[in-house]
Amino acid sequence: MTHQLWGGRFAAPTADDMRQYNDSFRFDRRLAHADITGSIAWAEALARASLITEDEYKLLIHGLDQVGHEFAEGRFAAQLGDEDIHTAVERRLHDLVGNVAGKLHTGRSRNEQVATDMRIFCIGAASDLQERVRDLQQALVAQAGQHSETLMPGYTHLQRAQPITFGHWCLAYVEMFERDRERLEQATVRLRSLPLGTGALAGNSLGVDRDVLLRILCDAEGVPFFDTLAHNSLDAVADRDFVAELLFDCAMIGTHLSRLAEDLVLYSSAEFGFIELADAYSTGSSLMPQKKNPDSMELLRGKSGRLIGNLVTLLTVLKGTPLAYNKDLQEDKEPFFDSFDTLDLGLRVATAAVATLQANPQRMVAALDDAMLATDLADELVRLGVPFRQAHGLVGQLVRRALELHVGLRDLPLEEYRQVYADLDETIYAIFTFAGSVARKDSPGGTAPRQVAEQVRRWQAKLQME
Ligand code: ARG
Repeated sequence: MTHQLWGGRFAAPTADDMRQYNDSFRFDRRLAHADITGSIAWAEALARASLITEDEYKLLIHGLDQVGHEFAEGRFAAQLGDEDIHTAVERRLHDLVGNVAGKLHTGRSRNEQVATDMRIFCIGAASDLQERVRDLQQALVAQAGQHSETLMPGYTHLQRAQPITFGHWCLAYVEMFERDRERLEQATVRLRSLPLGTGALAGNSLGVDRDVLLRILCDAEGVPFFDTLAHNSLDAVADRDFVAELLFDCAMIGTHLSRLAEDLVLYSSAEFGFIELADAYSTGSSLMPQKKNPDSMELLRGKSGRLIGNLVTLLTVLKGTPLAYNKDLQEDKEPFFDSFDTLDLGLRVATAAVATLQANPQRMVAALDDAMLATDLADELVRLGVPFRQAHGLVGQLVRRALELHVGLRDLPLEEYRQVYADLDETIYAIFTFAGSVARKDSPGGTAPRQVAEQVRRWQAKLQME
């Protein structure tokens, strides 16, 4: 005999394929801890409202604790008919404590229950992801600290543009991931709204005190959970915005990881040779013995696809659902769990791959060419009083002349310089150092080693490194 939470009005059993289609236990069993946390609070609120006796309350709590342990220790034995996590917990509770288990669901609907469970799970997931993102930021800051003076080409349109430092490149990603961490924090503010006590859709009529529920669920084992009550019962059970929001945050993190990965795939190629990934984060070819492939980075780039896909999945699920609860909402879980798991592991891999990559400063410097100092030359003319637009044109002529003569800008004879601007003398050649060029970018946010070192110090303090 299965422990079904409904069925009195049904004359025929559920078809096997329908049961398979409808059941969510195989994936929502991950909500066990959240579900039991919510049920323990519910039992207390029932006792306070005198809907169960003190003895019944104690029995329920004891049984729920046991079920919780069974899940935590991986010894929960699923049975046919365990439709979802809520059914499974109640069925097992019944095995353990008998008929009093049937009082736990007094005045409660699975609709408010699953909305509460998902919020509890999401609060933990958002906090875990923030930590993973912070680990990655720390690895990037550590590389930046080592390479605040390491020169490399900066690109726009993937064409050499101006010299920058490798440390500056690392810190660009630290900024992106900081916004991601902030987004997760801000999303958490909205996660802390408690749906419990709103019934199936219309509210609670048995006198269960929602303020009591909120007080019980404001934290569990020191972890802050809820700090406000959901204000509208229809919205409370139908709202999955918070899942969509986190899926966006995951997609954004995935997008940042993908951009980082794309840079590192390029930089680790023989053509660039700027960095080498550790063997531990690369793989080989079954056919070509010489190959060392940046698979960690390719997977980070590739898996951004499913992170974006999961967001689109849920938005599509939500957009046509009438108020209030519909079973469509059960489709929030697999995309979310998948995004969470994908990112949790992906961020660990990214962190270790960044921490163990070897930069090759010689190859970076070798990729710099004089033409990348054309802007510095124009800036020098500006310092001599030439309007920038005119300076831009004059330097353009010099670049063209150097190309015609097959020489670098710094190898053009002085008379060529004088031909475009008569007042120039030998001192103009002093601008032709890459180190000088980056050192001049000394405004806040610039690539000058002094600025990069300053930013590294700021991040070390902010991320509480060492
Ligand atoms: N497994 C369901 C879900 O994830 C739980 C809520 C079921 N509610 C219901 N009215 N059938 O959404």
